[in-house]
Amino acid sequence: MGILIYMDSDLCTHVALVGLMGAGKTVIGASLARKSNVRHVDLDRWIQNSYGRSMGVIFNERGEKGFREIETDALKKVLGSEEPVVLSTGGGIVVQDENRSILKENSHVIWLKATPEGLAKRVGEGRGRPLLKDKDPLEVLQLLNAEREENYKEVADLVIDVESGTVEEISDQILALTILKGDK
Ligand code: S3P
Repeated sequence: MGILIYMDSDLCTHVALVGLMGAGKTVIGASLARKSNVRHVDLDRWIQNSYGRSMGVIFNERGEKGFREIETDALKKVLGSEEPVVLSTGGGIVVQDENRSILKENSHVIWLKATPEGLAKRVGEGRGRPLLKDKDPLEVLQLLNAEREENYKEVADLVIDVESGTVEEISDQILALTILKGDK
């Protein structure tokens, strides 16, 4: 398992957070980036800013397939930058083979893992998340968990249980587990 290598307080590699909707990828990523003194990129936000459209509108206009193409393109651009970033991905980033290769080759991947039941409590009615629109969030999350678990496992260098704990506690835990220089 790879471990992050820190140069002073700055990361010398990209860090990518993966996990299902509601895992806290955005807020934990922001906290981790602040504490590591690097730029935070939230891929969904990056896409929405680039296209000047909300996630709902992108899904409406292009469907999930179109969104996935945009997502892969965005992933390549963000992880192609020389400046290390903490990247919060969207929950479905691991579904495509190409994305998993890009993640593994260009970043240290951290899987924020929780049960579908725990995640369902956090996403509430699923506002702003097209895959949960007019559906039972728990049912969708159970299904996606079953479909994607192996994909998350495949890309993860580190797995963090986010079922409980505050954002600050979890980002501290990640830093404590990854700051060991050169450890394997
Ligand atoms: C998706 C998760 C969303 C967003 C899109 C699709 C998914 O991101 O990328 O709605 O397929 O699980 P979050 O995990 O940040 O909600």
